[in-house]
Amino acid sequence: MTTNQHGNEGAQARENEPDGGSPRDSRRRLLGAIGAGVGAAVVLPTVAAAQTGDGSDNDGGRQRSGRDRNGAGEGGRERGVRGNRRQGVVTGPDRFGRMFDLPPFAEPSQELRAALVELGRPGGIMDANDPLEVGPTRLITEPELSPNNRDNPTHTAGVTFLGQFMDHDITRDAGSRLGQPTPARRSTNLRSAQLDLDSVYGGGPAESPELYDGFSFRIESGGQFEDVPRDDDGQAILGDDRNDENLILSGLHAAFLAFHNAVLEDVANGTPTMSDFDQARRTVQHHYQWIVVNEVLPQFVGQDMVDSILISGFEIFDTDTPRIPLEFQTAAYRFGHSMIRPSYRANLAGDNGDPFFAFVFDPDTFGDADPDDLSGHARANRRFIGWQTFFDFDDGEVKPNKRIDAKMSTPLFQLPMFAIPTARGEDLGPTSLASRNLLRHITWEIPSGQAIAREMGVDPLSTADLDDLSSLGANLDTSTPLFFYLLREADVMADGLHLGPIGGRMVAEVFLGLLEADPTSYLNVADNWRPTLPQRNGRAGDGFTMADLLTIAGVDPTSRGQ
Ligand code: HEM
Repeated sequence: MTTNQHGNEGAQARENEPDGGSPRDSRRRLLGAIGAGVGAAVVLPTVAAAQTGDGSDNDGGRQRSGRDRNGAGEGGRERGVRGNRRQGVVTGPDRFGRMFDLPPFAEPSQELRAALVELGRPGGIMDANDPLEVGPTRLITEPELSPNNRDNPTHTAGVTFLGQFMDHDITRDAGSRLGQPTPARRSTNLRSAQLDLDSVYGGGPAESPELYDGFSFRIESGGQFEDVPRDDDGQAILGDDRNDENLILSGLHAAFLAFHNAVLEDVANGTPTMSDFDQARRTVQHHYQWIVVNEVLPQFVGQDMVDSILISGFEIFDTDTPRIPLEFQTAAYRFGHSMIRPSYRANLAGDNGDPFFAFVFDPDTFGDADPDDLSGHARANRRFIGWQTFFDFDDGEVKPNKRIDAKMSTPLFQLPMFAIPTARGEDLGPTSLASRNLLRHITWEIPSGQAIAREMGVDPLSTADLDDLSSLGANLDTSTPLFFYLLREADVMADGLHLGPIGGRMVAEVFLGLLEADPTSYLNVADNWRPTLPQRNGRAGDGFTMADLLTIAGVDPTSRGQ
């Protein structure tokens, strides 16, 4: 069963016995081309549900008062800190949870709503004010034209969209009302709170047959190269249709489809069976999870933060009840919106032999059959991704990300309508992504950045650090919406290279906590699990990266010939 943009369908039934079938695409050649003996290297992971925690009571819990962090109403309870118990794994649609029992950053009022809309309006404090009139090519190739889009030399451009892809794997608000306070117990997260790629696999071949051809994924051609499958109206047929929101994201989705098919082809001895499918899916999940921990999180939060959590454990995420916290869903993990560039080089030679440069969104072209921007929902020859711009293939072509700060690229202040989620019967609301993020803080009664800093024992930012908010009223400079606060924290504390101490811990604890809580994750299946698939150098092991995954998927520059 798939979900649509408005979340009308329930999501994840675990798969049942499918009908069987044969793979559509043979990619054994590609695996063979990059590593010897791959078939032997792919091992059937033991799904060890054994609890590796010490089983003891939490050693550092703090008593909370007020709202239950899992949205179950009033009443505090002892909170797990550094607890490794894994009870109550959340595997399907469920509520969101909370990390903190703290009051909302402000009482809802018309004045507050107006201040938040103002903060996130086109041309406002958060708008990078990119000079769009110079066009997408100059804007990305002449950095001096967009001083508010400073390069981050420690991030590759693609990690932004891999981050969005990870978001769509674990969170999907089923349709809350923008700016209307809503109890957390009335929330629904349509995704499973696991890094299990349910956004790709749906319910498996039996529950989501529209995604599959036997045990392989359906992949179609976009003209020159792969595209996600689409219906006659061009609507993508995906486990989560949000993955067709922009071309880079749909390209990543297609790459994961091809990656699964390549691994399945390699696993199967003849016509694939359900057992081959399960083995391939597990191998895909584990390699993806490895990339999240070892390639993505160090870029998002800094290696020191990742190491600190892996060594010392969790302080704010409850691995006993691993729901996605609303503070993460509404604020912390939306930091990714600040890393998006106004324009990109989608590919190097796909536009009749020329590079395809385009704005991420351009309202002048919305709805065109082959729009000049990078919006999704369209198929055409030039609409594919040349991945060497986005991930490092050691060819000098990879480009850096934008730094993390309180500025967002100008095209994000006028989103295409198809990208905007609304509750049933609700008006569209602002098309500015910044304003929408901020208004959701009222919806989910998110505590202020300062209150969370104090709760975590971190010195809050100074009033001087937030001085630009003072003119907006509503005390936003002293009780700051968490989304804005964490972006400013990243800028002030880490020069925008990664998230700061609060934002970094919130993001890293959720991802590592979800893996810790999942008995089937690579952290739990075996002692010291390591990638089994070959890297581009032919060896298997720790160095496995997105570039290797894309190579196995057959969408790398060498396979494309461009
Ligand atoms: C071009 C890229 C992106 C676009 C156009 C986009 C757009 C959106 C939109 C329209 C929403 C819903 C806003 C609302 O009404 O509340 C949203 C939610 C969200 N976004 Fe993004 N986003 C992008 C990239 C990212 C990235 C890179 C990340 C993180 C690394 C991210 C994280 C999130 C999260 C956590 C949510 C909440 C999802 C939910 O639970 O429903 N997004 N985004």
